[in-house]
Amino acid sequence: MAFTIAISGKGGTGKTTLAAFVIKFITEETGKPVLAVDADPNATLHDALGVDVSRTVSDIREETLENKLKLTQSGISKERLIEYEIQESVKECGRFDLITMGRPEGPGCYCYVNNLLRKYLGTLSAGFPFAVIDNEAGMEHLSRRTNGSVDLLLVVAEPTVVGANSARNIYRLSESLPVAVREKALILNKVPPAGVRDEVRRRLRAGGLPVAGNIPADEEVMEFAVTGKSLLDISPTNKAYGSVKMLTGRYIKAD
Ligand SMILES: Nc1ncnc2c1ncn2[C@@H]1O[C@H](COP(=O)(O)OP(=O)(O)OP(=O)(O)O)[C@@H](O)[C@H]1O
Ligand SMILES: [Mg+2]
Repeated sequence: MAFTIAISGKGGTGKTTLAAFVIKFITEETGKPVLAVDADPNATLHDALGVDVSRTVSDIREETLENKLKLTQSGISKERLIEYEIQESVKECGRFDLITMGRPEGPGCYCYVNNLLRKYLGTLSAGFPFAVIDNEAGMEHLSRRTNGSVDLLLVVAEPTVVGANSARNIYRLSESLPVAVREKALILNKVPPAGVRDEVRRRLRAGGLPVAGNIPADEEVMEFAVTGKSLLDISPTNKAYGSVKMLTGRYIKAD
């Protein structure tokens, strides 16, 4: 069973950036393969990883509902066909595979396909030692997009009063979801050179939220976003990536 790391947080805090860096860390430092899951309907993980994605799981779900999937071989069941199509949509990128979930379902009954999907995702992730899930903003969706268990939930927040408040809400919400979260860690991202202000620290302390690590606001990360370069190619001395390495290394051992 894959050690599952889910990344959550308010919009724009740096979830996708962190997901890409965690994937980089695991694949490069442990040498083990990762199943990267883009669970954000507004999918951007492929861009952060420098990968093209042409077909999402949602596309397959829609095609199934509209009976557009073609039975290419006689005797093949619909279930096998859907499995095959999802397998085909998984982008193999050497040290990691990327599956992009796509938009949530529209009106219509998707139970049959969704059940198949959940079953298939379980089988797929079981073949990997690690799975990293980049989520959409908020927490409500986590239960829909995982198999009900997360080993490490990384909550990303900006070091502001609003960031501290929303991190507290996300923590609270994560406790009420039908997802077993083994461990949680709060990461402050885009920390300015002057550090985290006292007011923010105070609020985090009052909310009972210990900070697991800080990631600095980083010009190279910003530059990569502007030019659309893969974060996997960030310079080895990059400070933001260095922080991610350090904090991820506490949960994942390289041996
Ligand atoms: N440490 C950092 N230093 C500088 N810029 C950063 C840092 N982390 C993230 N960013 C920038 O902030 C923006 C938002 O980051 P990102 O897309 O990772 O956030 P997100 O939480 O995934 O957003 P969304 O909620 O839209 O999915 C991007 O332009 C990214 O390059
Ligand atoms: Mg994102």
